[in-house]
Amino acid sequence: MKLQGTATVNEQGHLTIGGCDAVELVKSFGSPLYVMDEALLRENCRVYHQAFCAGGAGEVLYAGKTFLTLAMCRLVEDAGLGLDVVSGGELYTARRAGFPMDRVYFHGNNKTPAELMQALDYGVGQVVVDNLYEMAMLNNLAAGREVPVKVLLRITPGIECHTHEFIRTGQIDSKFGFALPTGQALEAVKAVIDHSHLVFTGLHCHIGSQIFELTSFGYAATVMMEFIAEIRRQTGVTVGTLNLGGGFGIRYTEADTPGDLAAYARLVLDTVAREAHRCGLSVPKVVVEPGRSIAGPAGTTLYTVGSVKEIRGVRRYVAVDGGMTDNPRPALYGSRYEAMLANKADREAVEVVSITGKCCESGDMLIWDIALPKVESGDILAVSCTGAYNYTMSMNYNRLAKPAVIFVRDGQAAVVVERESLDDLIRNDRIPPYLQGRS
Ligand code: LLP
Repeated sequence: MKLQGTATVNEQGHLTIGGCDAVELVKSFGSPLYVMDEALLRENCRVYHQAFCAGGAGEVLYAGKTFLTLAMCRLVEDAGLGLDVVSGGELYTARRAGFPMDRVYFHGNNKTPAELMQALDYGVGQVVVDNLYEMAMLNNLAAGREVPVKVLLRITPGIECHTHEFIRTGQIDSKFGFALPTGQALEAVKAVIDHSHLVFTGLHCHIGSQIFELTSFGYAATVMMEFIAEIRRQTGVTVGTLNLGGGFGIRYTEADTPGDLAAYARLVLDTVAREAHRCGLSVPKVVVEPGRSIAGPAGTTLYTVGSVKEIRGVRRYVAVDGGMTDNPRPALYGSRYEAMLANKADREAVEVVSITGKCCESGDMLIWDIALPKVESGDILAVSCTGAYNYTMSMNYNRLAKPAVIFVRDGQAAVVVERESLDDLIRNDRIPPYLQGRS
């Protein structure tokens, strides 16, 4: 496992993160445990901010779907980033954290009337309108309050990128946005301009996630700028903001070859500036929405090893006290992870095992065929790069309680999400009166 951020190995041969011994963390907080390296979170935000906002040019929004809690909202605010939210729940989290609403962009392909009203109540900065149904509804709601609302339009530019099919959202056969190649995007722009209470500020696209080929981002920027030029020709309107979404890929295992973040920023900013110049347009504000590349590498999940089952001549299954409930990505996407034994971090690998979870489901595998030191029950297994789309996609299958989340830094650990209790699991259960009596 590649050590990232502040992770290191101490003299006892234990993994440490943020100056905290992983074995001690499990003693104090139990397992499974999501550990977020606060310094790395902050550093990733800083690098993005520096790359895109130097000279006040662009804006970076952290994509809340990746990992969002009250504490994370505070950290993102501190780092000077904005926030991309996709539901009333994420919006509520931001609001309760006191996040500045003018820095919030509200996304979603099927925002409900209640969610749109919530957004207007809170005064969110921008709504990213996804379809005509939403456009009309938002205009009516805004008109009812006599308060105009700033909107971007979500465009599907028709770009394929090489990533897992389920997380590819830029091609035109997509549930998201207005398709550019079919002419619907231009119709949507003409429509939005005609709505009395919508202030058209710009365009948004997101071509996919976990993308390594930087040229895909440059291509998206070019296609969108050509569209902006087309909008000018057809309507006379100047588009002020171009939001190019997220998607910058990260290293989960050695098979992953992420690009260079500074090169990505340069490519995107230079492409937009060059195309603006070529088309005689003013340079729009460039917005990006990274999620995975901020939170992913900062997260490590700690598990306790339970049963170790050897099928002679076939495989050794190492079972941990979590699994697809805290990390559904291997089961959903076939995602790969690296791991180490946090209590034997200085030992050589001597065996190849497969890591399985504790759910009643054969597909509940975290890692197939990983080389580790001799694994024994009671060992602490650390899986790296679990900061993105793990906690936010966790679930209670088999009525497993969700793990706690802690931030670690400078030798201190702070709980940012409490571990769910057994009572939490039945908190919303009700027994209807006709089932209450026992015969
Ligand atoms: N903006 C929009 C509109 C998005 O849809 C997404 C991710 C992002 C930004 C952030 O993308 P990132 O920088 O994290 O790649 N659950 C999947 C990932 C789904 C991504 C959805 N959209 C996974 O676990 O890989």
